[in-house]
Amino acid sequence: MSTVTLEKNGHIGILTIDRPKALNALNSEVLKDLGAAVDAVEADEDIYVAIITGAGEKSFVAGADIAEMKDYDVAGGEAFGLRGNDVFLKVENMTKPVIAAINGFALGGGNELAMSCDIRLASEKAKFGQPEVGLGITPGFGGTQRLPRIVGVAKAMELILTAKTIKADEAARIGLVSYVYPAEELMDKALELANAIAAQAQVAVRQSKKCIRQGIHLDMASAVALEAKYFGECFATEDQKDAMNAFVNKEKLNGFKNK
Ligand code: CAA
Repeated sequence: MSTVTLEKNGHIGILTIDRPKALNALNSEVLKDLGAAVDAVEADEDIYVAIITGAGEKSFVAGADIAEMKDYDVAGGEAFGLRGNDVFLKVENMTKPVIAAINGFALGGGNELAMSCDIRLASEKAKFGQPEVGLGITPGFGGTQRLPRIVGVAKAMELILTAKTIKADEAARIGLVSYVYPAEELMDKALELANAIAAQAQVAVRQSKKCIRQGIHLDMASAVALEAKYFGECFATEDQKDAMNAFVNKEKLNGFKNK
């Protein structure tokens, strides 16, 4: 039995962190299962977009597992941090776009998992925060790095240094999530967004994601040079020829070949 399930809905792969008794807290087993589930999504050519969500009514992911961490020594803590970061980098660098459908608590490692995804949607019930300094630790699965990149340094400082929890509307206001929906609409809205992406030319979608993910770490001149490279590579695809010929000939293109 895996603690992360993968279900398919058309071209969308839905990954559910399924450990509701512990509010989907990330222990070593969940991290291992999440890594394996991401590999399965990558290997499945029929999946174009992934959605990550949490099982149960209450929680997306309530953080790294505190019971597992509590007796770690320095080396154990660092190793756990590296393990989580490896999996979250794998999520972030997935060739396919990943949407977080945040259905409840997204605390500590939960907020960090959401931030590894490309787009975040939240239920009105969702709550966000990095409570680590209240537990005597720093955020350990990328929070000190991704939060300031998403919401800015001062807001990340405030959230991390006070350990405070914020509601979904505040998360939207500061740009941590893109949209907030009533709980019962969240998954439909996530599927709607995923299908809007799945309807595009997938080579171009993946080249665009790769370019954003890699370019953000570069200086502007190197980043736009990288963009030119990925832009150029798109001209080797049938989709580019088909779509541009259809436009020029005023014809309607009937879907993409994704090659
Ligand atoms: N680790 C382990 N178990 C957890 C957990 C966590 N992060 N969060 C919740 N649980 C467990 C609880 O221990 C409880 O288990 P039992 O039923 O066996 O007692 C069960 O989930 C339900 O939790 P609560 O009874 O506490 O539920 P609640 O509704 O009263 O409170 C909550 C919900 C506010 C989310 C509360 O559970 C909580 O504060 N959880 C911890 C949140 C947190 O601090 N997360 C950060 C962890 S550190 C981290 O993530 C480091 C990093 O960056 C890698």
